[in-house]
Amino acid sequence: MSSKSEKVGIVGSGLIGRSWSMLFASVGYKVMLYDILPAQVETALKETEKELKSLEKQGLLRGKLNANEQFSCISGTTKLTELVKDAIFIQECIPERLDWKQALYKELDGVLESQTIVSSSTSTFLPSLFTKDLKHQENMLVSHPVNPPYYVPLVEVVPAPWTKKTVVQKTRSLMEEIGQKPVTLSREVEGFALNRIQYAILNEVWSLVDRGILDVKDVDSVMSDGLGMRYAFLGALETAHLNAEGMTNYFERYSKTIHAVSETMPSSPPRMEGKTAESIAKQLEVMVPLDKLQERREYRDKCLTQLSILKKKLNE
Ligand code: NAI
Repeated sequence: MSSKSEKVGIVGSGLIGRSWSMLFASVGYKVMLYDILPAQVETALKETEKELKSLEKQGLLRGKLNANEQFSCISGTTKLTELVKDAIFIQECIPERLDWKQALYKELDGVLESQTIVSSSTSTFLPSLFTKDLKHQENMLVSHPVNPPYYVPLVEVVPAPWTKKTVVQKTRSLMEEIGQKPVTLSREVEGFALNRIQYAILNEVWSLVDRGILDVKDVDSVMSDGLGMRYAFLGALETAHLNAEGMTNYFERYSKTIHAVSETMPSSPPRMEGKTAESIAKQLEVMVPLDKLQERREYRDKCLTQLSILKKKLNE
C-alpha cells in the first residue's frame, strides 16, 4: 500500500541506490529500482525487505508506514523506459565513472519525460561534466548523499550552470520531505562543500604527521575526542559564536591569531605519497588491521545510528 501516487526512479541498485529507495519509500513514494544487471535488482529487493524488517524490529524504521507497507512501495525493473515512465524524480546511483555517467545521461535524455528531474549521487563530478548539451539539461543536477544516508542526513544539492531554479527548489523540498538535511550550493564547485572541508582537515592532519608533531593515533584523537564531539551538534561557525560573546566578539578576539597560525600552515597542498604516506598507512594498519576493516565499519555504523537517535531525542 503506497501512500503517494507519485513515482521516484532509482538508477543503480548498489549500496547508495538501496539507501535512497528506503528513504523515498519511508514517506510512501512509489519507488522503482533499475540496474543494468538484473540480478542486482533482485538482490536489492531481497536485501531491502530484510533491512526494513530488521530496522522495524530495532525501532529504527523511519517514517510512519510499517516495514511491509514501505517495502510494498518498492518495485524493480530492468528496462530504462519502464523506469522513466511517469517518474517525477530519478536519483542516479551508478558507479563513479565519468564515461559511464555520460553514457547513461545521454541514454536517459532520449527517453525522459519533460517533468522529470534527474539527480546524481556523484561524490566528485561536477554536474556540468555529464549533463552538457542534453535536451533535458535544465532538469539535471547533483544530490550528493553521505554514507550511510539512512543515518547521516546531509545532502549537497549542486546545480549545473543551466539547472532551472525551480528544479533546485523542488529537489531541496523533496530531500526535506524524506527527512534528509539538504544544503544548496549556489553554483558547482570542485569537491562540493563536504569534501572541500574534509580535504582542508586532511591536509593539516597530514602536515602535523609529516612534520613529526603528532602520530596517527593522536592526530585522529584531536577529531574524535575533541573537535568532532562538538561538530556532531554545532557547525564550525556556531561553535565559534558560542566560544566568545557572539561572533563579532570572536572575530575581534581571534582573527589575528587565526591568521598568524594559518600563515604557518603549508602554502601549497601536499601530495599524499612517499614515506609519510607509507608511515601513516602502517600506523593505521596497526590500529585497524586490514582484515578488521569490516568489523570497524560495523562499529562506525552502530555509533552513527546511536548518534542519530540521540540527536533526534535532543532536538524533540
Ligand atoms: P555500487 O557499486 O554499490 O552500485 C552501483 C550499481 O550501479 C551496481 O549495482 C551496478 O550494477 C549499477 N550500474 C552500473 N552501470 C549502470 C548503468 N549504466 N545503469 C544502471 N545501473 C548501473 O556503487 P555505490 O557505492 O552505490 O555508488 C553509487 C554512486 O553514489 C557513485 O556515484 C558514488 O560516488 C556515489 N556515492 C557513494 C557513496 C559511498 O559511500 N558508497 C557516498 C556518496 C555518494
